[in-house]
Amino acid sequence: MLEPNAAKTAHSADAIKSAADSAARQYIASNPLSGAINADAAHFLPGGNTRTSLWTNPFPLCMVSGHDQHLIDADGHDYIDFLGEFTAGIYGHSPKIVNDAIIAALADGVNLSSHNKWEGKLASMIIDRFPSMDLLRFTNSGTEANLMALAAAKAFTGRSKIIVFEGGYHGGVLSFPPGGSKTNVPHEFVLGTYNDQADTQRLIEENKNNLAAILVEPMLGAGGCIPGDPAFLHMLRDMSAAAGALLIFDEIQTSRLSAGGRQALLGITADITTIGKFFGGGLAFGCFGGRLDIMNQFNPSRVDALPHAGTFNNNTLTMAAGCAAVEHLLTPQALVQINERGDRFREDIQALFARLGAPFRVSGLGSIMNIHPISPSMHSADLRNLLFFELVSAGIYIAARGLIALSLSITDEDTATFLAAMEGILIKHKTLFLTT
Ligand SMILES: Cc1ncc(COP(=O)(O)O)c(C=O)c1O
Repeated sequence: MLEPNAAKTAHSADAIKSAADSAARQYIASNPLSGAINADAAHFLPGGNTRTSLWTNPFPLCMVSGHDQHLIDADGHDYIDFLGEFTAGIYGHSPKIVNDAIIAALADGVNLSSHNKWEGKLASMIIDRFPSMDLLRFTNSGTEANLMALAAAKAFTGRSKIIVFEGGYHGGVLSFPPGGSKTNVPHEFVLGTYNDQADTQRLIEENKNNLAAILVEPMLGAGGCIPGDPAFLHMLRDMSAAAGALLIFDEIQTSRLSAGGRQALLGITADITTIGKFFGGGLAFGCFGGRLDIMNQFNPSRVDALPHAGTFNNNTLTMAAGCAAVEHLLTPQALVQINERGDRFREDIQALFARLGAPFRVSGLGSIMNIHPISPSMHSADLRNLLFFELVSAGIYIAARGLIALSLSITDEDTATFLAAMEGILIKHKTLFLTT
């Protein structure tokens, strides 16, 4: 027989599951065309999906257009987009200045089989912002940028081990969720605990003779927007240098926290930095850059140069879009404003949860944040689903896992709309939450 408290928990878990199931049924009924598009695609793509992070049970929404901070789905619903393409969509949808740059580049022809006039310009604008980069190279994705950063570190140091952290995400083949990933590249990874200084010091000490690099996000992104402790990140800087290993900062998300990324805010200079997402103006993009001696390994005029080919590394559309976006939209001032808005928004969400006794919390930095059920209990997946389906039905789009990334198009009015919708949902389900 269950103890009284256990019985209460079991009861509330059942009630939350039943509310989440009911919200899912409502989602299915409201989104027949998204469901049908997914079912058709499933004949050709596993689960109808080609990007795992977008997967949502029972099927993901299919968006058909986006303008500024708004998205329209196949069934005609209009959403305020609080997901912002998992941080990549910082400019909002279809900013004219970027569209015009793409159209102008298109008019001159793509696939020119050559260097072009934009790649050096985009590189110079990025290098101006990141003192850790003396030279850089472009890739087509953040994953590729991290793969190349690791290759550069191993070749440079002549060593093979790489310290990474549980919860870290550096791409589809460099992913370290609890329980591991079967699709990772076979490097000699040593898994550390994020923000655990003592344990990480021990790992560095134990592996220092063969340690090529430490690869770390200054804030765990896909791992739930968990900021790295400044003292932890400074320790990584000091101890990697002492061990003769390279510090690689994956700033693919956090480079939007200031003009020089989180490293500028912390006063840390990494040996190699990777960026991606928005620096290509919204088109496929990645980039790794670092110290002169490390990056010069790739100078193709050297007889011993490391190869780094890639048909689309300098594709004209991305290079032109990146130049326009970084110069005109991703200004230092715009980044200050969006991150201040994000800090206020996060505090307001947290205050709402506290006022209503809701079983959620929000973590993050600046314009990137994640809503979590407070305790990782057996019903936290149902709590997440319930919140997601309710927000969608209120016209608010976030990631099912709780990620929110503001775009420059999001206004104070939009954040107020979000807070009012969230309050309505929490009040509607108050009896459920009070028993969790
Ligand atoms: C921190 C971080 N690193 C790497 C990546 C991989 O980038 P991409 O999806 O462009 O391959 C991501 C993508 O979400 C990321 O958030």
